[in-house]
Amino acid sequence: MDTKTLNNLKEAFEVAPSAELAKIITFALIESGNVDNIAPYLGSFGSSLSAMELEQVVNALESSGNQESLMILERGLDTTACTNLVRLLINSQKLENAKAVYLSALERDTSILNREFDSLLGIEPHVAKLKVVEKAEIADLSRYRQKTSDFNDVVGLDRIKKQIHKKIILPFQSPSLFQRFKKKIGGGVLLYGPPGCGKTLLARATAGECNASFFNVEVSDVLDMYIGESEQKLHAIFEKARNETPSVIFFDELEALAGKREHARNSSSANTVSQFLTELDGFSQNNEGILVLASTNVPWAIDAAFLRPGRFDRMFFVPPPDREARYGILKHHIQNRPASDDINFNALTNKTSGYSGADLANLIEMAADEAIDESLVQGIDVDINFSHFKEALQESRATTTEWLTTARNYARYANDGGRYNDVLDFINKNSKK
Ligand SMILES: Nc1ncnc2c1ncn2[C@@H]1O[C@H](COP(=O)(O)OP(=O)(O)OP(=O)(O)O)[C@@H](O)[C@H]1O
Ligand SMILES: [Mg+2]
Repeated sequence: MDTKTLNNLKEAFEVAPSAELAKIITFALIESGNVDNIAPYLGSFGSSLSAMELEQVVNALESSGNQESLMILERGLDTTACTNLVRLLINSQKLENAKAVYLSALERDTSILNREFDSLLGIEPHVAKLKVVEKAEIADLSRYRQKTSDFNDVVGLDRIKKQIHKKIILPFQSPSLFQRFKKKIGGGVLLYGPPGCGKTLLARATAGECNASFFNVEVSDVLDMYIGESEQKLHAIFEKARNETPSVIFFDELEALAGKREHARNSSSANTVSQFLTELDGFSQNNEGILVLASTNVPWAIDAAFLRPGRFDRMFFVPPPDREARYGILKHHIQNRPASDDINFNALTNKTSGYSGADLANLIEMAADEAIDESLVQGIDVDINFSHFKEALQESRATTTEWLTTARNYARYANDGGRYNDVLDFINKNSKK
């Protein structure tokens, strides 16, 4: 390649760097023996180099290159190319370099983790794993950290709000009073009830009312990690919460864990369960000031080990909204939308017995859609009115009835120590009406 073309290409690369350009320039430089000048292009290859081309570049670097240029090269490569690079260095007995490149790549991209490399490079597997966890902590723990709200966002549910206030929030607010009586602050609480009735909402609001940091963890999410990683992940989450007390860790879908152990798919999820129990017990660490909340739609599927004293030993039933709450939820969700005065909220409340909060929120969404459709057809702005709700009602249904039927059976025939008394009370009260 003549100098002029090469310079043009370099200029083009300055303006719009790309992997392809970097490659062309690099090979032109190598061909003309100008290896010293390839540094600016080393970090841009992405997935554009074949294994053979990678070898050519590394060989070219050999004469003038140092570990630093290898690291620059590594940072620009995709996972496959990175793995190729480590293998290449190992095969050519550049073990020092291979190790440096491998560890640095691992920090960026955990999927490069490779047992064979670990043993060939004399890295203890746990060192590699630690790198993974460090990275997981930075990348993911922040994902679990979520904004809280407060009880104003949760309509109705006054009974359970009162219970939560007395048993959870008060101890957080006046710890000295409780310490005086040697009462522990924190502990585990299981929220259960039909889907869409405000468990997640309540958990977030509880954290807000306690003025605590809030970590929202989906159990299935933790379980889906690589083997062995879930335990460390769980531990990392608990450690983070212990460092930031007062804090609330919320495990959504607890059944994902308990169910797994029953069917014991593999030993790794059993390990995760026992790690979870250890963290809950806080044997080696102090769980003071940490509230562990969990929620489930299927409390009867939860492994009994989770419900023992010191773990999720308090269970709160989050019932479907009653008449008053349904009225409130409808009003709450329509608040900031254009709505006509003709909407008969009492009639809607009567027609939505058995609806969950989520069903009601959805009903309003559907009515809003109807209003939008009408606006489009008429060419003017139409507010949400009662007729839109009538349309929406035809397409929606109550989703809590089925849950209550199942729950009633458990409450009647498997009511261990009165565990489901709240459910029975609710059903009796509502069937009388
Ligand atoms: N008491 C309530 N007040 C206001 N909105 C509510 C209430 N209950 C439910 N909602 C509405 O329904 C949505 C779903 O509620 P949430 O996610 O808390 O249900 P959940 O009980 O956690 O359900 P799941 O068991 O499916 O996780 C909320 O985002 C909210 O819009
Ligand atoms: Mg939820």
